[in-house]
Amino acid sequence: MSLLEVTHVEKSYGDEDVLRDVSFAMDRGDVEVIVGPSGAGKSTLLRCVNRLTEIDGGTITLDGDPIHSLDVNDLRRRVGMVFQDFNLFAHRTARGNITLGLEEVLALDHATAVERADAYLDRVGLADQADSYPAELSGGQKQRVGIARALAMEPELMLFDEPTSALDPELVGEVLEVMTDLAAEGMTMLSVTHEMGFARSAADTLTVLDDGQIVERGPPEQLFENPDHDRTAAFLGRLTDLEQ
Ligand SMILES: Nc1ncnc2c1ncn2[C@@H]1O[C@H](COP(=O)(O)OP(=O)(O)OP(=O)(O)O)[C@@H](O)[C@H]1O
Ligand SMILES: [Mg+2]
Repeated sequence: MSLLEVTHVEKSYGDEDVLRDVSFAMDRGDVEVIVGPSGAGKSTLLRCVNRLTEIDGGTITLDGDPIHSLDVNDLRRRVGMVFQDFNLFAHRTARGNITLGLEEVLALDHATAVERADAYLDRVGLADQADSYPAELSGGQKQRVGIARALAMEPELMLFDEPTSALDPELVGEVLEVMTDLAAEGMTMLSVTHEMGFARSAADTLTVLDDGQIVERGPPEQLFENPDHDRTAAFLGRLTDLEQ
């Protein structure tokens, strides 16, 4: 059974159809990168998977469970999300950002939560920043706290929505390195990103979403070298140009 199954999903805002008959599946350990132009529906798709947005049609299942039948907190414990703009709590330290969910959602006792938070901070290379507040951290460090916070819930699936887009160029690498390590360790990851180096090296599957529809989906090398659709070639060609 697939870990994530998205089947004929439809989503509209008012009379704008934002996702149109979107279907795909991910197995455990799969790393999938979604690309597409602005307004294509990429963020909306991720938000549907952890029910920050409700779908209007179709189904989404996580390990066979229809997500609409799950308790939303249970779903969000099982599906971690990392946002472009970090979404850290400004008045809590790096450690405090992580222990909050562990104590309030997982009901871990404080000492256990601190121990787990520190282990995940260490994992993203921030063992020495546990007591720092977000304002005292660089963008790359903030994003690594965001990743550690999501990982500490020990999710089955991680969603990343342009995790490096808000970073200065020199800070992108440290975040991609953490993501690449996670991918290599077998984490199931669904990531919207324009980082084509990451897509080429870490992704099993690349999906092009345009105007709410999947245009093309397959192994990254195939989409880069031998795309079936002109829109894929045009879009990936443009992205690759931007990186040079
Ligand atoms: N909460 C909302 N209410 C109304 N319209 C929305 C809402 N969220 C998204 N939309 C619209 O849905 C469409 C898809 O938006 P979405 O944010 O999913 O695109 P995206 O592919 O993530 O774009 P970007 O690359 O700019 O992040 C856009 O036209 C957007 O204006
Ligand atoms: Mg978006």
